[in-house]
Amino acid sequence: MKKLPDLKILDEKDRRLHQKSVDVTFPLDDATIKTIYDCLDYLEMSQNEELAKEYDLRAGMGLSFCQIGIMKRIFVVSEDYGDGTFGRYIIINPKVISHSEELIYVGEGEGCLSINRETIGIVPRYARMRLRAYDEHGDEFEIRVREDIAIAFQHELDHLDGILFTDKIDKKNPFKDQNKMREI
Ligand code: NI
Repeated sequence: MKKLPDLKILDEKDRRLHQKSVDVTFPLDDATIKTIYDCLDYLEMSQNEELAKEYDLRAGMGLSFCQIGIMKRIFVVSEDYGDGTFGRYIIINPKVISHSEELIYVGEGEGCLSINRETIGIVPRYARMRLRAYDEHGDEFEIRVREDIAIAFQHELDHLDGILFTDKIDKKNPFKDQNKMREI
């Protein structure tokens, strides 16, 4: 069995979670590449019920480097295919090219490994988007994402700019404009 990567995930009270991260230059050093894979391993283990229980982990599908105190524009997303395998997304220096008009939101509410409390309200997200980014080898690529993966990407893109999902919930009316969006 894989060992749990030694990552210290910062809490929302840490000021670094409210700061902008900076673009990365290539080539990445070995330590940074290892950290990228550690983050993905961590997310995959957190989404495995048995391992999550054993290590007392909350399930997460995305992690940005600022959440472990590294202020670089890097995030990873792990997509649970439901058969014990995962899709891995490694996104570095991302730029949004385009997005849908349609808005969606997570009905049960978004979660974040840095926010350890109950939250209430909806976060408007684009249903689809197209991005350009670099992978860990410095190769540029384009990617289209939709539905829950599009939401995960937007959640992580916000982290790179020091924004938490709770910042996007209307304080006075947490369910504002709900009827203008599709629940997923
Ligand atoms: Ni988060």
